[in-house]
Amino acid sequence: MSQIKIGMVGGGAIARAHVLAYSSVPILHDLQVKPVLSNLAEANVDLAIQAASKLGFENHTADWRTLTSSSDIDLVDIVAPTYLHAEVAIDAAEHGKAILCEKPIATTAADAKKMYEAASRAGVVNGVGFNYRRLSAILLAKKLITEGALGKITQFRTNFLEDWASNPKMAFTWRYKKITAGGGALADLGSHIIDVSRFLMGEIKSVCGMQETFIENRKLPNDRSKSEQVDVDDYTTALVRFANGVPGTIETSWATVGRKVALQIEVNGSEGSVYYNFENPNDLHYYSGADPNDRQGHRTIIMGTAHPYGTSFTFPATGSGAGFQDSINNEIYEVVNAVMKRSSLAPSFYDGWKVNQVIEAIQESSSKKKWVDLE
Ligand SMILES: NC(=O)c1ccc[n+]([C@@H]2O[C@H](COP(=O)([O-])OP(=O)(O)OC[C@H]3O[C@@H](n4cnc5c(N)ncnc54)[C@H](O)[C@@H]3O)[C@@H](O)[C@H]2O)c1
Repeated sequence: MSQIKIGMVGGGAIARAHVLAYSSVPILHDLQVKPVLSNLAEANVDLAIQAASKLGFENHTADWRTLTSSSDIDLVDIVAPTYLHAEVAIDAAEHGKAILCEKPIATTAADAKKMYEAASRAGVVNGVGFNYRRLSAILLAKKLITEGALGKITQFRTNFLEDWASNPKMAFTWRYKKITAGGGALADLGSHIIDVSRFLMGEIKSVCGMQETFIENRKLPNDRSKSEQVDVDDYTTALVRFANGVPGTIETSWATVGRKVALQIEVNGSEGSVYYNFENPNDLHYYSGADPNDRQGHRTIIMGTAHPYGTSFTFPATGSGAGFQDSINNEIYEVVNAVMKRSSLAPSFYDGWKVNQVIEAIQESSSKKKWVDLE
């Protein structure tokens, strides 16, 4: 069996999920290739040794350029803070590497465009960690919309709500500055639902946003006597108009007390509706207007082997899969498959760039208090 050698940049929270996926996809999927955890780059030598040993990499480095320039690496997986993505991805593309980059792909749309152009110029496989569109239920929703089961789509709404940042004692990190993160809840969580919105409904044409910051200063992690100003949103809501004319709403917050990973989507049409909440990730709620009057109401479809990726659940039985790790496993499977076949991948850096454009349009709209059109 041939091998794909992985060079990972960053060994933090999401690196764990990616590593688990590289190890499990040959077991869960019919793959004629084995991903090898070859080299891990971290911010300094101590962190690199620690992370490489815990995650099971053969080598470690404190300089990510060692990975991007190495003839021994096939795929560069960027799971570092967002402000590093563009530089690493462009260098990796120029060295002819396939690239998987976490979301949002850059802190600005201009950088995201440069990444897209560099990957296109080099002709390398490029993908983005928008894992929620890899969920069986989201793919089934897409199928129902495409097949016309909902009739003519009239409205769309989505929100992604979490609550960890509602704690004022939570220390300052790179996530709380625009220059390092590209935005707050909107860039972090909102990027996922903007991607799902585009995936289900097509391009967004115009936006009218409103943003709020609830906690304006946070203590530094290493010196609690000092604090740093937060310049990003804790909460964003936006009215949107899709290019197909459908109106909708996108709302996100990382400070909604009581909500944990509430990624919700509702699409309504002339003949039916679908509704999804990641807090119950196996369930897609489908309403058919064709049901007789005495049986109307949403039915719960439980994800199983009949659904996209269903046979690749860790345990392939109805209702047993579709958690967060399954979505990452599916994403990594698609990436490894594309690298092996040298085929194109979606979501790609193009999609990452489009999402960054929507983020910036919402930010601009909020600060100018007016609708903003996208190109
Ligand atoms: N798809 C998802 O659901 C998901 C979830 C979480 C995070 N993310 C994204 O993944 C990225 C990383 O997020 P995270 O939560 O893992 O962050 P994190 O802060 O937990 O981890 C980032 C790691 O990168 C390391 N790092 C910093 N500078 C580096 C350098 N110069 N070279 C190599 N490593 C360096 C840090 O030491 C840290 O260990 C972000 O872009 C984030 O938006 C995606």
